[in-house]
Amino acid sequence: MNVMEKPDNLILVIFGASGDLTSRKLIPALFSLKVQKLLPDKFAVIGCGRTEYSDENFRNKMKESILSFSEEKNPDKVLIDEFTRTLHYFPIDSSNESDYKKLKEKLYEIAKELDSPANFIFYMATPPSMYSGIAENLHAVQLADQQEGFRRLIIEKPFGYDLVSGRELNRKLHELITEDQIYRIDHYLGKETVQNVLVTRFANGIFEPLWNRNYIHRVEITSAESIGVEERGGYYDSSGALRDMVQNHLLQMVGLTAMEPPSSLESNSIRNEVLKVLQSLQPVSEEDVAKKVIRGQYTGSTIRGVCVPGYRYENDVAKDSRTETYVAIKFFINNWRWGGVPFYIRTGKRLPTRVTEIVIHFKKTPHHLFQRESGNLTSNQLIIRIQPDEGILMKFDMKEPGAGFNVKNVNMDFHYTDLADIRVPSAYERLLYDVMTGDSTLFSRDDVVETAWKFVEPIQKAWANKPELKIYGYPAGTWGPSVSNDLIEGCGLTWRYPCKNLSDDGLYCEL
Ligand code: BG6
Repeated sequence: MNVMEKPDNLILVIFGASGDLTSRKLIPALFSLKVQKLLPDKFAVIGCGRTEYSDENFRNKMKESILSFSEEKNPDKVLIDEFTRTLHYFPIDSSNESDYKKLKEKLYEIAKELDSPANFIFYMATPPSMYSGIAENLHAVQLADQQEGFRRLIIEKPFGYDLVSGRELNRKLHELITEDQIYRIDHYLGKETVQNVLVTRFANGIFEPLWNRNYIHRVEITSAESIGVEERGGYYDSSGALRDMVQNHLLQMVGLTAMEPPSSLESNSIRNEVLKVLQSLQPVSEEDVAKKVIRGQYTGSTIRGVCVPGYRYENDVAKDSRTETYVAIKFFINNWRWGGVPFYIRTGKRLPTRVTEIVIHFKKTPHHLFQRESGNLTSNQLIIRIQPDEGILMKFDMKEPGAGFNVKNVNMDFHYTDLADIRVPSAYERLLYDVMTGDSTLFSRDDVVETAWKFVEPIQKAWANKPELKIYGYPAGTWGPSVSNDLIEGCGLTWRYPCKNLSDDGLYCEL
């Protein structure tokens, strides 16, 4: 991390502390901050939930989570003990106002013991349906007032279910607290390599002159997962890939790829530019959905000798479900920089590999002098690999040694792992640290969230209102419905088929 200052003393309250997010992500991330000496000098966590735990039980459970999920190599047991001593547990019925009065007493008591100001952060690691109820109760017992210290609220996506509910959630929260107290987590923004999009673009003078409609043929963004819905069938079946990944993670990546240079690194200056991109997205009208959006659902298959069930046979998924596990969209950005450049984004579960990347396809040379092994295809691509094998790849043409002028497409690559011993911090580490220091740059702002909903709304409506719009099956372990290649404008062009190694691509990759 760049800024190594310690946050002011504070207490972090986690609602939903007995859940998976707390044990798999939040506590290991806090422990990593402890290892890096980036936690406040005086710090405590209060885990809240319905389950009854004593402090001792909770500490032991969290100790196990650190041992299982921490990204620290060989975590130091003494440090784990020191860290878990800062953890407390407070059973609560989060819909009961009088429980919040007791929570308030507990918070002040701990703040007094720590001799710390009453700075409190509330993390809602709960189902989204509980967000506004918790905020109301915090407000009712004055735990949202900032007179005696800062009060910040962290919420996880989904921020609503569609444009109307997203707006309604924002409206309710704004009745209780101010926008600058709200930190909406889109964990993609916490990924080092997503932030590196900004650095690649704006720390290097060589890309900017080319980063526009004059030189770029198309932009492709892929976020592929090899896993299925696992134990989240209930949630996923009412969500689908469009809500789960496109409305948030993919559109944020579009924003960072397409934005104008911000005037500074100040949080609103970056978020204003992202907002402008989202406001410039050419709406995909309900009528256009058939032509510009492909949805798919994985069917049962055998992947490397293992039978995997089709989506409809996953736990808690309706047997006749029409929820998409794959979506690909073509759209344009109506502004001077991008007018006429198609953007293609896709995401899906049970694809061949887990990979997220941004591919900038540059235009072809105006005159072809040489015989090229790649024929008519574009020769220059810049690939920003978000995960795995994080790095950057530039593809361009070179002369093959020997007689004549045979041209071969070659790679020039940089892998994050080349940065020797620097561990790439997890997204949650970065985001928790940023909330503690009050930096909201990497969090979704209300207007950005609503504008993103506005873009996906006609697609949601078309799918809901027009049963004739197809949902294509694709065998688990393949690159989604083959018709999604028809979205790509240009003879013989297809999506890139990335492999787990940044430098390789192709339908058949190293396993
Ligand atoms: C979450 C989605 O936001 O992102 C999940 O709800 C998805 O369905 C996950 O699996 C992907 O995150 P990552 O960091 O593994 O790319």
